Amino acid sequence: MHNFHKLPFRDRQAMLKQSAQLSDEEMQALQGEGFDKIAPFLIENTVGIFSLPLAIATNCVIDGCSRNIPMVVEESSIVAALSATAKWVHRFGTITTSVHGELIVGQIHLPNGAGSKGVLESHADALVAYANEVYPSFARHNGGVVAFQVRQLGVHAVCHVLANSADAMGANGITQICELLAARIASMGIHTGISIVSNYTDQKIVRATCQVQMDDSAHAIIEAAEFAQMDVYRAVTHNKGISNGIDPLLIATGNDWRAAEAAMHAYAARSGSYQPLSQYSYQDGYLIGALEIPLSLGTVGGMTALHPAAKVALKILGVQHASELSRICAAVGLLQNLAALRALTSTGIIKGHMKLHATNIALAAGALPHQMEFLVTQLHEALLQKKPISVSLAQRLLR
Ligand code: MEV
Repeated sequence: MHNFHKLPFRDRQAMLKQSAQLSDEEMQALQGEGFDKIAPFLIENTVGIFSLPLAIATNCVIDGCSRNIPMVVEESSIVAALSATAKWVHRFGTITTSVHGELIVGQIHLPNGAGSKGVLESHADALVAYANEVYPSFARHNGGVVAFQVRQLGVHAVCHVLANSADAMGANGITQICELLAARIASMGIHTGISIVSNYTDQKIVRATCQVQMDDSAHAIIEAAEFAQMDVYRAVTHNKGISNGIDPLLIATGNDWRAAEAAMHAYAARSGSYQPLSQYSYQDGYLIGALEIPLSLGTVGGMTALHPAAKVALKILGVQHASELSRICAAVGLLQNLAALRALTSTGIIKGHMKLHATNIALAAGALPHQMEFLVTQLHEALLQKKPISVSLAQRLLR
């Protein structure tokens, strides 16, 4: 994807078509075609379709494998920053990933059920077998329910149903399993409350680690990361920078980014104080960055199977399994975080961000297509002279 970012829109599309071996129909899906047919059935009261740009971040070599990263996002500079940092990491280092655990969790609440813990635990094996019998779908794909546990919460109790959902995110599946088990438990004379998936996916952890050869300027990055460890105001922004990479990829592949966000923030606060999700150190001339997050994604079922562009996004990525997608997500989160920290500790974020944002400002000021080039150049000039740029300045220049 050499010089991909410098190509005009149509040439860029042609390069992607060739590189990912996409059909004409798949290229049309990337333009939003076909989604209008399913959108009215996805949610109630549909009145339209809200579009966002879909871009490809380049230069990402993760676990030694080159990946083109589809990203759906509106914020300027995210894709450019990721591509540039991925290029730098590939030149001076490596990024590797791993997955730890494969289980999702469903919960059945037992209000005032502490006294039922013992009897339910004695039926655990039978309840697991029953779950796989009434909901065989996970087991058919080399997964299935593997454990039934009971936790006491004061006078309450909660049953945890642990399952391997294979390549599905599995939220609807595990919730159905919990509902079926709740009916079974109720038939034993035990009062049951709500049954639902837990989005705290701490039984599926994904790690990304990068090692980049760097001079002493690495220390500024480490100091910035330490700042995030000491201050929640900074930690939230630090983690937002990680989400800047992960969420666009989750959206592009039709995954539930709200679930992933909820899990990541809970994980960030697991020690009792909200912490950055990534850490940095410096060893023997190398900056070492590490990110660890809970992530349960799907490459089958749900929106991944329905949205025509999501299917193409998975093809562009070249992933077969959900665990592979999770690993790429973690790597992208770490690269995006590193991109932000590099910018913040060198030129500052505004330079790169606002340079691209100048285009948005020109559009907001009402520039017509033939006025864009002139206006954006003028705004870049202003930036070079360290002047703040705004919509009112753009309107003045336009006048
Ligand atoms: C902006 O969208 C994200 C950053 O604020 C992240 C960070 O400060 O680390 C640049």
